[in-house]
Amino acid sequence: MAIDIAALQNVQFTREGHLALVTVNRPSKLNALDDATIAELDAVFTAIDAEAAIGAVIVTGSGEKAFVAGADIGVLSKQGVLDGKDNALRGQALTLRIENCKKPVIAAINGFALGGGLELALACDVRFASKNAKLGLPEVSLGIIPGYGGTQRLPRLVGTGVALQLILTGDPVTADEALRIGLVNGVCEAAELLTTCKAVAGKMVSRGPQALALAKQAVRRGVHLSMADGLQLEADLFGIISSTSEMKEGMAAFLEKRKPTWLRS
Ligand code: COA
Repeated sequence: MAIDIAALQNVQFTREGHLALVTVNRPSKLNALDDATIAELDAVFTAIDAEAAIGAVIVTGSGEKAFVAGADIGVLSKQGVLDGKDNALRGQALTLRIENCKKPVIAAINGFALGGGLELALACDVRFASKNAKLGLPEVSLGIIPGYGGTQRLPRLVGTGVALQLILTGDPVTADEALRIGLVNGVCEAAELLTTCKAVAGKMVSRGPQALALAKQAVRRGVHLSMADGLQLEADLFGIISSTSEMKEGMAAFLEKRKPTWLRS
């Protein structure tokens, strides 16, 4: 890794084989995102993207109460026009980095995911929540609007009407309600959350790494395109994957009735 893991203050980074676990670690502030935490997350995801041995990532929060309870309100309270915009752009850059990460990223939502916390989870590819989780965008109750991508990603995920209800009331939803509206992929007991996420991540890690990266790219870029352009993109990426030794290995393994051995370089 190109980052000094020991120097991280507000983020923990651990590895289990090909899986990376990223934990936002400010439990006394319910893991609220201040500038330093955003910078550390950005550095960690930059390094993860460049590390071939990492096949999938889980993001979670430290402690039993919160995933991330939002951007740090202490910092937000002091912002003016220019630094307010800069703050939004920094948060957006982080969420874009996660969204565009070549590896699948799973959010393990282990409690409050509010404001910037939900926006962080929205940038992940897949979300699982513990039964005690509460998810929402309460910004309007603070006299601000979501600024880390929430106004754009939430409607694309759950539809405009449901997104507007969440954004304009500021009210959080329970994990079960989040599942019902398609905001999370699954709900489980708190004690089982990481195990569930690791099982899904493990399944992804067992697949072709270049196929994962290109499939993610096709979906992530495709949602912004017309159907015709999206299909063209898919065909182009299909052409690229068809030129790889990964494809040869995947097909050969099937025909030889064995598990594929993926190259991670
Ligand atoms: N920014 C900064 N600090 C935060 C925070 C945030 N987004 N969310 C929680 N904290 C801090 C609290 O100020 C408190 O710190 P303190 O002990 O130094 O006073 C600590 O975390 C614990 O939070 P507390 O409010 O005492 O816990 P609670 O269980 O009573 O309530 C919440 C939990 C999540 C309901 C409540 O903390 C909350 O509403 N947080 C703000 C959520 C929000 O609006 N997020 C969007 C920001 S844009």
